Amino acid sequence: MSSNLFIAIEGTDGSGKSTQARLLAERLTNAGHSVHTTFEPTSGHIGRLLRSILKGEIKADQKAIAALFLADRLDHLLREEDGMVKKMQEGYSVICDRYYFSSYAYHSVYTDMDWVIDCNRMCAATLRPHLTIFIDVPTDECMTRIAAGRESAELYETTEILQKVRSNYLTAIEKLKDTEKVVTVNGSGTIEEVAERVWQAYIAISDNR
Ligand code: TYD
Repeated sequence: MSSNLFIAIEGTDGSGKSTQARLLAERLTNAGHSVHTTFEPTSGHIGRLLRSILKGEIKADQKAIAALFLADRLDHLLREEDGMVKKMQEGYSVICDRYYFSSYAYHSVYTDMDWVIDCNRMCAATLRPHLTIFIDVPTDECMTRIAAGRESAELYETTEILQKVRSNYLTAIEKLKDTEKVVTVNGSGTIEEVAERVWQAYIAISDNR
């Protein structure tokens, strides 16, 4: 049996998840794994449309946005040349910066979480992460980091929305605890400290396979 893993890294904006996804990928590569790192929204056509919506260049209804993220995800999974399904079949460990828990957390600020989970059922059936790591950081800390790093805020980058997003992550993790393997990692502290916690979460799951 192939030992490559599919790992999703989750967290609110400003949680440092992209840095942690990169560091985990580096560490796995150094340990001799073939690693494919990727992210959502993707850099494909639908992902680019989503980026324009997030920047406020195009307006769209929140349910339509949720549906576009689903379309982007299906494209990300099933794209013939470099889709995540293909990469898993080729033996890569795939590390994805955001996956369907992002949809559960962000879109249920505006709509019913069960609807979002239902919409993503095909993604879960196609490729369920062996491990989802939720990097949990208090919202005030995230907002400070966002303010330090960006000139203008994106669609969801307000304290009020990110507080709801964080709480929705926790609700979704609890709701799906029988079907999804999620580890919540304390994302406060230095980058190295958090990276070590992420690594330990990975070690625990890979030892149990
Ligand atoms: P993010 O990872 O923050 O990208 P970047 O670091 O390049 O800004 O993701 C962009 C936004 O997309 C973020 O606010 C969360 C949102 N998002 C959703 O609303 N639903 C989804 O399903 C996904 C994957 C992301």
